[in-house]
Amino acid sequence: DLLAQIERLEELFSVSKEKLIAISDHFVKELEKGLSKEGGSIPMNPTWCMAFPDGHEEGTFLALDMGGTNLRVCEITLTEEKGEFDIIQSKYKMPEELKTGTAEELWGYIADCLQQFIEYHHEGEDLPQLPLGFTFSYPATQEYINHGILQRWTKGFDIAGVEGQDVVPPFEAALAERGLPIKLTALINDTTGTLIASAYTDTEMKIGAIFGTGCNAAYMENCGSIPKLAHMNLNPDHPMAINCEYGAFDNEHVILPRTPYDVIIDKESPRPGQQAFEKMIAGLYLGELFRLVLLDLHQNPDVEIFQGQDMSKLQRPYCLDASFLSAIEEDPFENLSETSDLFHHKLNLSCTKPELELCRRLAELIGTRAARLSACGIAAICKKKGYTACHVGADGSVFNKYPHFKARGAQALRDIFGWGKEVKKDPIVIMAAEDGSGVGAALIAALTLKRAKEGN
Ligand code: BG6
Ligand code: GLC
Repeated sequence: DLLAQIERLEELFSVSKEKLIAISDHFVKELEKGLSKEGGSIPMNPTWCMAFPDGHEEGTFLALDMGGTNLRVCEITLTEEKGEFDIIQSKYKMPEELKTGTAEELWGYIADCLQQFIEYHHEGEDLPQLPLGFTFSYPATQEYINHGILQRWTKGFDIAGVEGQDVVPPFEAALAERGLPIKLTALINDTTGTLIASAYTDTEMKIGAIFGTGCNAAYMENCGSIPKLAHMNLNPDHPMAINCEYGAFDNEHVILPRTPYDVIIDKESPRPGQQAFEKMIAGLYLGELFRLVLLDLHQNPDVEIFQGQDMSKLQRPYCLDASFLSAIEEDPFENLSETSDLFHHKLNLSCTKPELELCRRLAELIGTRAARLSACGIAAICKKKGYTACHVGADGSVFNKYPHFKARGAQALRDIFGWGKEVKKDPIVIMAAEDGSGVGAALIAALTLKRAKEGN
């Protein structure tokens, strides 16, 4: 009986208020471990982005964004007018094959996109060398800002020969091969860009977060609170943006309420054992979770679902993305006719009313769990830093497009911090960020050049 199955799924996927509190408390300890000399599974990467912009940055910069879904090139002109900028940009497809191809193909493709951008926007011009902020949204160990050793690929990327290497030299070689007048000035993470770009226009912004193909956040730490940098004798009061890479939270599997479906996602991924938190909540995995649950139900002899139908389309891994769940959650019709059409066109399945209702509830459960668990990372940073009120700048396809994600996340924060009805306005608010990998990358490049000029 499908109603009994719905109840079972509700139990599996719901995360209680008490559990959210326990997760975020444990999360704080893991953030601290990541900053310690011994380290933990959350990398807590120092970014060498060591200041917030003051709004008077200036100059023209290129920004390259190699993130989740798109590859984007921007040219940003910061004017001395506080907080003002001009931007031109082009988007390029990030071909799926590139994610599992060779390193040469990857760097070659990116350099080709930059070349196209320059040819299109500056045809025939004699350009000076342009400084570039490269948003490379994967965990990287940085000893300085224009360098970064890829710790490991995340988000389903699997390109041999890049992990453990500095990504800058092969990237610069691809630029040089094409004779492009571009100098990589700063290699940044999308979360750091989001933090800096958001703080540029709103000084309440203390955290930059991405809820997209992957999930992660960055915040400003004091150098004195980063024991693993103690040997560098940095001024303890100097700020340092930390790219948490907290998609790796709970790789030890001690606190997150994993379901058998989460276990399968991990096992079948290119990097099993990594990104435990991310694999439960990020956009890349939401459709896959949904697919795995439906297949499991179909294979259960006690459950009658999609009986006698051709399941071959649903059997293809990763055939559903988060937009499929979004569409189901957004179906405005009582009889779920849009969901029914979707199943028909995309999966060649015709659904009964109870089947449609189960699918709708399942989408809600997966989407709600994602939003509630996502809030734990934000809450943990706030708890660690003692922020009782602040803004969090957020970007990414899940934050911007997934229905109810913001409201569900806000409710989870209320659950964690115990803000009841008496609290009229949420003290910690997650809100849409400024363009981190465009403006943020340009600002960080500008701040880097300024620091170099000042000789520190
Ligand atoms: C974009 C930012 O809006 O969101 C990128 O410009 C970021 O820098 C991306 O990586 C994350 O979202 P998604 O959904 O593309 O992974
Ligand atoms: C993954 C990446 C991280 C990035 C996040 C959001 O977690 O490892 O660097 O910030 O996705 O794009």
